[in-house]
Amino acid sequence: MSSCLSGKHIVLGISGGIAAYKSVYLLRLLVKAGAEVQVVITPNGKEFITPVTLSSLSGNPVISEFFTANTGEWHSHVDIGQWADLMVIAPATASTIAKMANGVADNMLITTYLSAKEHVMVAPAMDLDMWAHPATQRNIATLRADGVDIIEPGSGELASHLCGKGRMEEPEKIVEAIEEYFRSEEAPLPLAGKKVMITAGPTYEAIDPVRFIGNHSSGKMGFALARECRRLGADTVVVAGPVNKSLTPEGVRRVDVVTAREMLAACEAEFEDTDICIFAAAVADYAPAECAERKIKRENVEEMDLRLVRNPDIAATLGKRKGERTMIGFALESDHGQENACRKLKAKNFDWIVLNSLSDEGACFNTDTNKVTVFGADSSSVSFPLESKDKVAKDIMNVIVAGLL
Ligand code: PMT
Repeated sequence: MSSCLSGKHIVLGISGGIAAYKSVYLLRLLVKAGAEVQVVITPNGKEFITPVTLSSLSGNPVISEFFTANTGEWHSHVDIGQWADLMVIAPATASTIAKMANGVADNMLITTYLSAKEHVMVAPAMDLDMWAHPATQRNIATLRADGVDIIEPGSGELASHLCGKGRMEEPEKIVEAIEEYFRSEEAPLPLAGKKVMITAGPTYEAIDPVRFIGNHSSGKMGFALARECRRLGADTVVVAGPVNKSLTPEGVRRVDVVTAREMLAACEAEFEDTDICIFAAAVADYAPAECAERKIKRENVEEMDLRLVRNPDIAATLGKRKGERTMIGFALESDHGQENACRKLKAKNFDWIVLNSLSDEGACFNTDTNKVTVFGADSSSVSFPLESKDKVAKDIMNVIVAGLL
């Protein structure tokens, strides 16, 4: 059977980590599927895997240095970058990811990355603490914002014998992600010509100049959906509560707001020419009736009664003016999940509602993963396992795009 990888030019970047042994198998799978592969390896990568193995399997000399020492032959990273239909870096160590995020071009792999004209995918591999470190997470967010696809590492036993997240994804799964990328490139973009508006993140409702009522939403789910909608060809705008600036994917417009009322006003301003609305924000349902002008001093106040007033329901307000638009909501429930989600679906005039699993570790708020069930207005439902929010976004959009056809 012919593979969509047949004849594709792929640069396989290998950096210096134990998982480099898996790259040999990845290379073999890519070549078997008919791809032409050029390996670019970092000097440290060669400590883990020999260039002879890699050149034998790829049928091409392995590139590591800027020039060949004995002949002085120059290796042009620009030419390799232009030759490639795709660059995949697997494994990508914390150091390589940091260099990519900051443009530190001190080896052939990074200069090739900076010259790459086509898409880039990265399969990180490192110890769990290195993966979880804010510096690595900042760099990953920067790469995502630069349009790089991150193939999330898996959890399990690591080279350090510790257990946790950081294992490079298995070669078969990386090949699946590559095939999916090429297939989506060849297919017509299903959301081309459509405008999608997404709400994301929390809202903050001020008590005084320094305090607020808020929640744990990070905006990650909303921005993952935005990245996917953009990839599917939509003109995408995110109305975002106070969340990290670096979440914004390339090609996505962002409108920043703080309160629920500001979020409603921003959504209303975008609504007219919107075809699809996705409400992934965790909007504060109540706001303090008054915001104190000055910081409330604890010395003066033994007990405090905070009077709250109900905020507008953004989804329900816009649901009343839905017209031909498609609307998707989220539901966050501590009990009777399905029942409450389906009630909200009807009350807010949604076509679909996505129920988060609040009880599963790693799902919902402020994590990189989520576990959801999508309920349709036609009583259909589909459940997905715990996956990266990027993958959850793809699954949700697959359901929605299929429903639009
Ligand atoms: O941001 P992350 O850390 O990635 O976490 C993602 C998430 C858990 C916040 C997200 O997946 C999610 O579930 N968002 C909606 C949470 C929520 O507020 O659910 P709800 O059941 O209270 O609201 C139902 C729907 O009405 C939601 O689509 C909500 O956006 C919308 N709503 C609610 C209240 C309100 N005043 N206005 C609204 O538009």
